[in-house]
Amino acid sequence: MKGIIMAGGSGRRLMPLTGVLSKQLLPVYNKPMIYYPLSVLMLAGVRDILIVSAPDQLPLFRALLGDGSRLGLRLDYAEQKRPGGIAEAFLVGADHIGDDSVSLVLGDNLFHGPGFSALLRDRAERLDGCTIFGYPVRDPQRYGVAEVADDGKLLGIEEKPARPRSELAVTGLYMYDNDVVEIARWLTPSARGELEITDINREYLERGRAELVQLGRGFVWLDTGTHDALLEAGQYVQILEQRQSVRIACLEEIAYRMGFVTVEQLRELAAKHEQTEYGTYLKDLADRARVSEPVSYAPPPDLAADPSGLPHTPLHAGAMRS
Ligand code: G1P
Repeated sequence: MKGIIMAGGSGRRLMPLTGVLSKQLLPVYNKPMIYYPLSVLMLAGVRDILIVSAPDQLPLFRALLGDGSRLGLRLDYAEQKRPGGIAEAFLVGADHIGDDSVSLVLGDNLFHGPGFSALLRDRAERLDGCTIFGYPVRDPQRYGVAEVADDGKLLGIEEKPARPRSELAVTGLYMYDNDVVEIARWLTPSARGELEITDINREYLERGRAELVQLGRGFVWLDTGTHDALLEAGQYVQILEQRQSVRIACLEEIAYRMGFVTVEQLRELAAKHEQTEYGTYLKDLADRARVSEPVSYAPPPDLAADPSGLPHTPLHAGAMRS
């Protein structure tokens, strides 16, 4: 499965913060925003990822993340010349997708919850058509809204309805089979002049090939579309990181735990951040691991045994000093 991060858009609602800088490069507490959606694709086991953004911003993303090799990833970059909608990702990214399936994540969405990595890998493996993720919110009219039957079956999706038929927002994380490229080619712009991701999802639904996964209680999905939402997302990360002394969306840690890099490589990554808290965190992680071999991509672990949902890489496989 390939990955695409959509990091375009005008950032109008966050002006003047976004006057010269892409929204997805703004800080969410201690990391650039794009770290969070990138971490989601990595947790899904996706390593070949295209970042789509405006021409003047792409060099900044490239300077930040490079070719991804230090994280065991392959990162490519593509221009969206003007904000033409999320679904344009599949036109801009058609070559990148090739004949593969693809997971698209919006560059301003933050997901966090137990068992997430296992859930994502499981859904990616069982993908048949399209999989979208729903999350109950107080203000569904701001989002794509899913209508579901009592048994959880997806009945309909509406984009920003004035009268939502449910409280289930469609989050900015999507998985599609290869048909998505062809479907995107047939789309016409909506009233707001954009190629809508909701139109793609509706087409899959009409074909009887769309599935909704509900992210329930205890799961966190935040967007960062307004100044308050951006601040709240930062506060969420701050509270959790300080309370539990773990890092959310620490790309180096995820690369290591997913088996994308070895413990020696993790040590080198830590050295790059020497004498910072971030570097110390990474060095501690490397110090705690005895086994240095990379691990293969493990099947979803038993969530009851490992609530983190991360695969059984050296740290989880009993290689940690007691
Ligand atoms: C977009 C999608 C919408 C989805 C939302 C999630 O909205 O169109 O369906 O619920 O992302 O963040 P937009 O950011 O374009 O307003």
